[in-house]
Amino acid sequence: MKGSMKCEIFGLALLLGSIGSAHADIDALVKSCDACHGEKGISAHNDMPTIAGIAESNLASQMRSYLDGRPAKTVNHVTGDTSKKENMTDIVKGLSDDQIDELAAYYAELPYKSMKQPFDAGLAKAGKKLHDEQGCKKCHTDGGSVAEDEASILSGQPKGYMLTTLKEFKTGKRSDDESMNKPIIAMSDADLQALAEYYASQQ
Ligand code: HEC
Ligand code: HEC
Repeated sequence: MKGSMKCEIFGLALLLGSIGSAHADIDALVKSCDACHGEKGISAHNDMPTIAGIAESNLASQMRSYLDGRPAKTVNHVTGDTSKKENMTDIVKGLSDDQIDELAAYYAELPYKSMKQPFDAGLAKAGKKLHDEQGCKKCHTDGGSVAEDEASILSGQPKGYMLTTLKEFKTGKRSDDESMNKPIIAMSDADLQALAEYYASQQ
């Protein structure tokens, strides 16, 4: 009874949001995003990217890339109801164009924070060499830590997420952008691991 009341109130809030106050709408959405991505968009999980502090244009294009087939893992809601499984493709399909832009603007304003995580110092050194010598630093300056590059933030992202997403570029599943894919396709799995250790080492 209490649960269904809550549901109705939530539904009403969404409805009102879509008619009048866009803010109530965005607040409820942000809460649902933070349940997986972490409070204020700072990830607390190895497989979940931090979305705070990344350039607005990237956040919006990354969200829209799910509509063009970017692979999305189906995961349990990290907090709360573990029977509920969701993935980014379904989530983005449920958003309007305006909501995508508003969410991108909201998270871009929040401060980015690198994850405190273990890393292999030897591999991180090899990864830095790859980053510097394979052309990555041309677009991902200062070790991939600069939001203004509009090429996302790589430094301090959770290692598990980085490794998964690098492998998706290597197999061509994530993007057909040549400039990004070409150097990564040429790399071995050990190289990708080294890159992930390097980005994880920046804390
Ligand atoms: C059920 C968990 C879950 C929820 C809820 C969720 N996400 Fe995600 N999100 C993920 C996972 C996992 C990834 C990593 C890639 C993948 O598997 O899709 C991701 C990736 C992303 C990315 C790409 C990040 C990058 O660096 O490429 C953005 C942007 C994003 N989510 C924004 C949002 C927003 C905004 C919301 C709320 C409307 C949201 N997410 C809700 C799980 C979730
Ligand atoms: C020509 C510019 C360019 C080069 C060179 C480049 N990148 Fe990127 N990279 C980008 C852009 C732009 C994005 C953002 C894509 C998006 O917004 O969907 C990106 C995204 C990424 C991401 C995904 C970040 C995330 O969380 O979504 C990773 C990982 C990455 N690059 C690694 C690399 C590595 C490693 C190299 C070198 C082998 C490299 N990039 C070379 C421009 C570049």
